[in-house]
Amino acid sequence: MRGLRIATIGGDGVGPEVIEATLPVLRAAAEASGVSVETVALDWGGEHMLRTGRAMPADGADVLSECDGVLFGAVGRPDIPDDELIWGLIIGLRQALDLAVNVRPVRSWDGVTTAVRTEEPIDFVVVRENTEGEYAGVGGRVGQLGIEVAVHSRTAIERTARYAFDLARQRRGRVSLVTKSNAMRYGYPLWDEVTASVHLDYPDVELEHVLVDAMAARMVQRPGGLDVLLCSNLFGDILSDLAAGLVGGMGMAPSANVLPGRGPGLFEPVHGSAPDIAGAGIANPVACLLSAALLLDHTGVEGAGDRIRSAVTTTLRDPATHTPDLGGTATTTDLSTSVLTNLQQPAGGAPSAPTEHLVSLPTSRR
Ligand SMILES: NC(=O)c1ccc[n+]([C@@H]2O[C@H](COP(=O)([O-])OP(=O)(O)OC[C@H]3O[C@@H](n4cnc5c(N)ncnc54)[C@H](O)[C@@H]3O)[C@@H](O)[C@H]2O)c1
Repeated sequence: MRGLRIATIGGDGVGPEVIEATLPVLRAAAEASGVSVETVALDWGGEHMLRTGRAMPADGADVLSECDGVLFGAVGRPDIPDDELIWGLIIGLRQALDLAVNVRPVRSWDGVTTAVRTEEPIDFVVVRENTEGEYAGVGGRVGQLGIEVAVHSRTAIERTARYAFDLARQRRGRVSLVTKSNAMRYGYPLWDEVTASVHLDYPDVELEHVLVDAMAARMVQRPGGLDVLLCSNLFGDILSDLAAGLVGGMGMAPSANVLPGRGPGLFEPVHGSAPDIAGAGIANPVACLLSAALLLDHTGVEGAGDRIRSAVTTTLRDPATHTPDLGGTATTTDLSTSVLTNLQQPAGGAPSAPTEHLVSLPTSRR
């Protein structure tokens, strides 16, 4: 039997809760494809920082490099400055492992109310540059002057753009490049230029240029027509939270951090540690479950990711399984147990939703 070695980092707040709810589902989905899963639990995060002065050990990235994939919960504690923990763990890992691309699928689900009325289902993917842009960490502080320098390189733009075009080819063949090149005169014009040159290799994919402010309005007014959004680090971060809000909230938004073609990916819900509900047992585990599905896609476990998405689809159709963020009264465990049960049904392997609405990671460059 093929085996996968998965590192898990619960982190802080609801992070460990959603990871615990997800692991039995991940394991069952992989085993149904004939793949066993060994997990390596890592106690990194706020607690680790209070104990050792660091959110993770100095060789953290090397430890993860030995694994096939990483499932990450969330980081952030009210008693530790946010930037120290975020940089000490999640942004630090994205940079140390050179996880070039952040992929954030967004879709509406039967049974879950969308925040806006739309004729077509919502089904798009935010592809976000993940290592530089406004989060490059370049700048400084002199008294009351704060300088934050955005860094945009051809290399980083190009690899993100290629990923977006590859993904669009598997989907409906449309890429929307999101910039602010009317007001920012250096970095975003480079995005326009590099993306146009990558587009030459993908003549079958449609490319449009949209300013980020116009895209924010369009996501609310006409989200149905969107397919793949190609974004810088900051714009992708903000727009994907807006997107999560459209389809049920932060508990519904999964993500993948990957370096196409190399190394283990890191898969995590888009949400943070949600200190306001941590410990109450009511965090919605769907974002983490769907992140596990992306991990299984990325590691090439045939059918396993779709198995999880199908089971989530069936579960969400029943309002009795909804956690409070979706308007229900179910607990984290109620929801994940229902997903596990649906996955293990005799028909659990068969897609129970239109497959064109299920999002997989591109496999061509693995
Ligand atoms: N990648 C990460 O680990 C990450 C991402 C974002 C924020 N953070 C950190 O998390 C902490 C809290 O940040 P925040 O409040 O801005 O964002 P958040 O995502 O933690 O919470 C925002 C809102 O969404 C709700 N929510 C989030 N996840 C949910 C879930 N699974 N089920 C139901 N409701 C959920 C919360 O209850 C809260 O009302 C901060 O320390 C922040 O820096 C970490």
